[in-house]
Amino acid sequence: MSHDLENLLAPRPSERPDLWPWSARHDGTELSLGKVSASQLVESYGSPLYVLDEADLHGRANVWATVMAEEFWDGYGMGGGSAYYAAKALMSGRVIELVTSAGMGVDTASLGELTLALRAGADPDLVGLHGNNKSDEELRLAINAGTRGIARIVVDSIGEVERVTRIASELGRRARVMIRVTTGVHAGGHEFIATAHEDQKFGLSLASGTALEAARKIAAHESLEFMGLHAHIGSQIRDLEAFAESASRLLSLAKQLADEGVVCHELDLGGGYAITYTGADPQPLAPKEIARTLAGAIREACEKFDLKVPHVSVEPGRSVIGPTVVTLYRVGTVKDVPIEGGSRLYVSVDGGMSDNIRPALYDAKYTALLANRESDAPLRLARVVGKHCESGDIVVSDVALPGDIHEGDVLAVPATGAYGHSMSSNYNMLTRPGTLGVGMGEPHWLIYPEKLEDLFARDAALNAAELGEEK
Ligand code: LLP
Repeated sequence: MSHDLENLLAPRPSERPDLWPWSARHDGTELSLGKVSASQLVESYGSPLYVLDEADLHGRANVWATVMAEEFWDGYGMGGGSAYYAAKALMSGRVIELVTSAGMGVDTASLGELTLALRAGADPDLVGLHGNNKSDEELRLAINAGTRGIARIVVDSIGEVERVTRIASELGRRARVMIRVTTGVHAGGHEFIATAHEDQKFGLSLASGTALEAARKIAAHESLEFMGLHAHIGSQIRDLEAFAESASRLLSLAKQLADEGVVCHELDLGGGYAITYTGADPQPLAPKEIARTLAGAIREACEKFDLKVPHVSVEPGRSVIGPTVVTLYRVGTVKDVPIEGGSRLYVSVDGGMSDNIRPALYDAKYTALLANRESDAPLRLARVVGKHCESGDIVVSDVALPGDIHEGDVLAVPATGAYGHSMSSNYNMLTRPGTLGVGMGEPHWLIYPEKLEDLFARDAALNAAELGEEK
């Protein structure tokens, strides 16, 4: 067997704290989260279960807000800094409360996200709206929120500039807008999650001049307030050079605009900061290091272009929420399957691609730890699979697990906070797991587990029959 099993073993919290939430502990026998053992959590709240460490989330959000404020502090000759939580990674009323009370703003990308952020009490002055195809309804809500509309609508096309102008004029308001720029810098991750290269659907291009054209149009219209420039260059990025290059390209556009008398007040460098998913991943960069490096690069570029340093913001999603969630599954069927040169244990769990589509969609790698007991059985090469009717329904493609793993065991898959629940589905009519908050007081639901009745509530025929109506 070519796999080195020891390397495929999930590191425990003490070995790789970057992989686990703050409150995760292993006492030699069991994993616990927020001082509650994994088996107790599954016993009391069912499985699969997303368990979110609230103190960890609040802490990470506070770190991002703080490092941006510090590194871009105007006392250093900078223009101030802020951090917006990219809510698409995982959203609920409580998640919004935790990140905003920690000092972050909220970045949204649809009517649902924007409505939830506002209902959860996010300050419109700290809310942004993205989208390459925003609806009039989305724009109206954004422009009408609070006393001045949300902090920034990030426009993505020339047509959208015109639509925002029309809606703002209709509403008698002045909309604050930024421009989403494709800078040609492309970094990180899977092809589908990389966004700032040119041949894709997002943004206005720097190279072809459409970004410049949009900025001129915005600056010329009294219903619009030009806030600045935005670029999001991809996901799961470790290379800070890519962000620095993107910032420098945005600033070259800011310089062109400044020469025409149009001031870029704010620069947003998007999200995309990498996290740890398995023991094979390197340590992630600390937000402090990221902010400091960006501040240095931006200061330098501003000196070169003879520009005042603008306010700088970022939009991390994954790095705020990703490590704060562990998914707990119950083991069901275990099969020994012969493969070339040996055999592999196929360990089926009670969820799968409906609660985490990332392995199937991006070939994303995760790891899994036997969470409910200690075992000294020899390690086996294993694959954790879900219960869906697809062979691509894989949770963890390669992992070492004790050979005596059996039905009823609990497996913990860390780092599932980002794009786990938010991209979950009801495939095969599975109900989606709930998200349980731990680490701040007693465990409590942030998102209730779905019930079969929730699934059927939208079925017109079933509901018509129950109400005794004609079909
Ligand atoms: N800002 C903008 C404009 C974005 O489009 C995104 C993510 C973010 C910020 C946050 O990026 P983060 O820090 O979370 O990497 N579903 C994929 C990721 C898609 C990201 C889309 N945009 C995944 O599961 O990896």
